[in-house]
Amino acid sequence: MKLNVQKFIACIVLVLLINLTTTIAADWTQAAQNPFPSKIPDHVILTWSNNPTTSQSVTWRTDTTVNESWAEIAESDDSPDFTSNAKRLNALTQSLSIDEYSANYHSVTFSDLKSKSLYVYRVGSENNWSEWFQFRTANDKPEPFTFTFLGDGQNALLSLWSRVIRAAYSRAPETRFIIHGGDLVAQADNYDQWNEWFLAAGWINGMIPIVPVPGNHGYYHGHGKDRYLNKFWFAQFTLPENGISSLPESNYYFDYQGARFIILNSNEKIEEQTNWLKSNLVNNPNRWTIIAFHHTIYSATNNRDHKEIRNRWKPIFDNNHADLILMGHDHTYARGHNIDPKNGIKDPETGPVYVVSVSGPKLYDINKDRWMDRAAENTQLYQIIHIDNDVLNYKSYTATGQLYDEFDIRKNESGLNIFIDKHNKNIPERTFKNTLNKP
Ligand SMILES: [Fe+2]
Repeated sequence: MKLNVQKFIACIVLVLLINLTTTIAADWTQAAQNPFPSKIPDHVILTWSNNPTTSQSVTWRTDTTVNESWAEIAESDDSPDFTSNAKRLNALTQSLSIDEYSANYHSVTFSDLKSKSLYVYRVGSENNWSEWFQFRTANDKPEPFTFTFLGDGQNALLSLWSRVIRAAYSRAPETRFIIHGGDLVAQADNYDQWNEWFLAAGWINGMIPIVPVPGNHGYYHGHGKDRYLNKFWFAQFTLPENGISSLPESNYYFDYQGARFIILNSNEKIEEQTNWLKSNLVNNPNRWTIIAFHHTIYSATNNRDHKEIRNRWKPIFDNNHADLILMGHDHTYARGHNIDPKNGIKDPETGPVYVVSVSGPKLYDINKDRWMDRAAENTQLYQIIHIDNDVLNYKSYTATGQLYDEFDIRKNESGLNIFIDKHNKNIPERTFKNTLNKP
């Protein structure tokens, strides 16, 4: 009998412990996924709306009771005494309400900064401040640097995309910015998904500027004529307005230490962006040109073909020495050269290198009609790209950290590009159908 009582008590304790553990786990999950803002700033994110050598924009959100918010900035120092030198700026504040969600979004653009310098900033109001974040301004002349490219994140952002952006940052913490190739979330107006996107990236967004590309999932009303780029985009990202006037903050360019980055909006107004694109390539004092947009010039998966984009933009890339084209949309990995439309021969000298990549867990099969030299299916990846004078080195890593693809583009004196394929041929291609292994 005594033994049974002891057993009974042990069972009760065990049940209580299990319940307690479950409760803690459930609460933790709940707290981590609360998508609503509070008085404390969150979703802090760096972008550029102006010159990266002298300016830096930051955007954050609070609940709608906070109508006045500030950013403070100082030159960084090893001593924490920098706080006493901080300068305070008033934020611009705008409200956003969608269904049961409402928030105030605040932004400040720091200007007149010194080039090639490390700064600290924080955002907030009264007793509700963020931590101090550090960021670095660009050099005003060419200097080697690294940047990161991520294809569509889009789905299961907190659960399955987070590991990729965190692996990318851990691989190259010196990266100067992260280009997101469109479809950052699956549903443009879904505050839960945006919250997951911010939770997955965490404090990386507060230190490393992001360069967002608009994808089709960034639009309300899908492919309809009345579609429009989501309100979260404009509230959350403070971006350049140096593209065509009808596409503010979704078509833009910036120069960074000897390279020009051109962001096109491949969702709409394709023809209208053509002259703008050409003039930004022709009047380009930089040694390198990298272009990013969402839809693909050559499709990497079946039943997709974006003829208008290819017909209007590809000749401009070909004739004006674009070096690297970064795309998403097809939810697979593909890298290959330009193909001469007259003879079907790959042209590594005059044409750019085309890259399609994906960082999230939604994945499609590769197109059977292969144009690519390296491909992957059912694989999450991130890209780390380093530019050093006349050499651009590109590396694509899988989510687990395997160096899956690598090449150099070298510029010779005549201005033509020399392409060097450096991918490890001992690593089998992650394509899973026999017919897919040869171009
Ligand atoms: Fe997508």
